[in-house]
Amino acid sequence: MRNNFKIISIVNQKGGVGKTTTAINLGTALAAIDKKILLIDLDPQGNLSTGIGVTEKQRKISAYDLIIQDSSIHQTIQETRIPNLKIIPSNINLSGIEFELATDEDRTNKLNYKISDLKEGYDFVLIDCPPSLGILTVNSLVASDSVLVPLQCEFYALEGLAQLLRTIEKIKDNLNPNLFLEGVILTMFDSRNRLSDDVVADAREHLGKKVFDTIIPRNVRLSEAPSHGLPAIIYDQKCIGSVAYIDLAKELINRLGI
Ligand SMILES: Nc1ncnc2c1ncn2[C@@H]1O[C@H](COP(=O)(O)OP(=O)(O)O)[C@@H](O)[C@H]1O
Ligand SMILES: [Mg+2]
Repeated sequence: MRNNFKIISIVNQKGGVGKTTTAINLGTALAAIDKKILLIDLDPQGNLSTGIGVTEKQRKISAYDLIIQDSSIHQTIQETRIPNLKIIPSNINLSGIEFELATDEDRTNKLNYKISDLKEGYDFVLIDCPPSLGILTVNSLVASDSVLVPLQCEFYALEGLAQLLRTIEKIKDNLNPNLFLEGVILTMFDSRNRLSDDVVADAREHLGKKVFDTIIPRNVRLSEAPSHGLPAIIYDQKCIGSVAYIDLAKELINRLGI
């Protein structure tokens, strides 16, 4: 850890695997046990911002300003309705960033520079990445201590993982020597679907201890909550999805020994 807190990228270049749901609910579960959390929404789609209840109007200052403009990290952080949980929201302008940074020689280090101004006040910074391995994800990986990979319990789940792991290694070799895989989170597990069991077995065989014991089930409450602008953990604390994310937070804390 380069700071007093841990910076974790939530990455998978596939869309719809549970990155944003994990950022919101793991973040909220950690906040509920009195950890100080900063969520950064790096996806131009802004699903994390919406899911936390940040309106369009409140996104005038966003991760875009942080990466491209002179805005400091302190100027871009906003309060949320959730105690202990702050956010840097996304803005659709982020979608043009690949082009805007194309000729910038220092384009992979933008977020890293800004985050280094954050000296204290947090236990975890969780960065929700877009579904690609483009410049935003690279910025996130360069700025991070470690990576969490949500893996959907579906056919082809492990496909693409090798490329993601190679990208992590490349960043480690060239840009951020301390980066490592924190763990893989199995998401959207459906006990009625035998395929789900196969994915769990495959993942554990290939990735061993890197796979968290906690498995996130497919649970409709997790998908309903964002439309209310609330984490599932607040929308319905007792649903199986919320309970799983609370367990995941505990497992992460135990693994880190903090
Ligand atoms: N465990 C789950 N059970 C049911 N729906 C889920 C679960 N996790 C995510 N979803 C839903 O699936 C969709 C994709 O999830 P999301 O977290 O946005 O993925 P990503 O950020 O990787 O694109 C969203 O509509 C979300 O609400
Ligand atoms: Mg997302």
